[in-house]
Amino acid sequence: MLRIGIVGFGFMGRTHYSCWNKVKGAKVVAICDVNPNIVEDTTKAVGNIGDATSNIDFARIKLYSDFDKMLADAKLDAVSITLPTFLHPECSIKALSAGVNVMCEKPMALTVAECEKMIAAAKKTGKLLQIGHCVRFWPEYAKAKEIIDSGKYGKVIAASFRRFGSSPTWSADDWFLDEQRSGGMALDLHIHDSDYVQHLFGMPKAVYSTGAKAPGGGLAHISTQYIYDGIAVTAEGGWAMTPSFGFEMSFHLALERASIIYDLTRVPMFKLCPVSGEPFTPKVAQGDGWLLQIKHFAKLIQGEELEVITTLEQSRDSVRIVAAEKESVKKMKIVLIS
Ligand SMILES: NC(=O)c1ccc[n+]([C@@H]2O[C@H](COP(=O)([O-])OP(=O)(O)OC[C@H]3O[C@@H](n4cnc5c(N)ncnc54)[C@H](O)[C@@H]3O)[C@@H](O)[C@H]2O)c1
Repeated sequence: MLRIGIVGFGFMGRTHYSCWNKVKGAKVVAICDVNPNIVEDTTKAVGNIGDATSNIDFARIKLYSDFDKMLADAKLDAVSITLPTFLHPECSIKALSAGVNVMCEKPMALTVAECEKMIAAAKKTGKLLQIGHCVRFWPEYAKAKEIIDSGKYGKVIAASFRRFGSSPTWSADDWFLDEQRSGGMALDLHIHDSDYVQHLFGMPKAVYSTGAKAPGGGLAHISTQYIYDGIAVTAEGGWAMTPSFGFEMSFHLALERASIIYDLTRVPMFKLCPVSGEPFTPKVAQGDGWLLQIKHFAKLIQGEELEVITTLEQSRDSVRIVAAEKESVKKMKIVLIS
């Protein structure tokens, strides 16, 4: 039985808990959070999408408020790091150094330099570090990549991605809205699509982004063109929608012999429209990207050989792409990606 810990028991901590509960051969035995009211607060928790369950039997889980103590005491095989982003490097490195495998939420870190330190720690300790780029595992996104890679419908001509919600309201002392701790909307939300663009097409040569600021000053909306030879790729994302709008994510892919569309607000949500024949919904894996990535991570630490879906260097490079996008907004210029 894999002994699992979770550090940071807010929206994503509860989501990881719910996922770990569905992994055969794993058990959440320890949770660490600095919030002394974590049990009570869990029952009234919110997030943007998903199953951040409040039905947790805390009696069977050892609670900690100090991460070092949990690492020293709980005999963990792996830990989910679902902390505010600025804490990812320090806590991932501590856990790896204590011999514990790490499933760390995205973005990997605030800067490329911090990502490099995390990569070095994973290499040095030989423990597994996986960054939670769940969109690579999200069933429709994973299927779209599989279809593109099969070559059955020809090459991609154009691709566009969207991810919209309202400003996050659930975070402990509003850390999301503090650029120094979250990296702001582009690094927190829009990176999902920057990373998926990288997953499909590799590193872009350059980016050109425009953006709009929220009343508080941070970037609230971004629209980016990723520069590749012969493919038109754009992604747009933001926290500028009203709370009653909820959350939406979508993509539109134009291939030589098919269009592939995914949009949470459409019926059907996922559709492949071939150049000849009727549109249809391709069959996808059961579950969501969070669960599928955690199952993948669990299998890897149990020694299974699996297809590589995400690497630490790619997670670092997604931080690099978003940094270039933010620079492009600021300078109103195309930014080359070295
Ligand atoms: N993959 C996704 O779809 C997705 C969605 C939302 C957030 N995230 C990412 O997940 C991470 C966490 O986001 P969240 O929405 O869960 O935030 P949150 O504010 O809901 O939860 C963070 C938790 O960490 C706790 N915490 C803060 N400092 C701590 C410390 N030093 N030790 C122990 N606990 C501490 C807080 O008390 C809080 O309970 C972020 O990196 C965010 O970018 C990913």
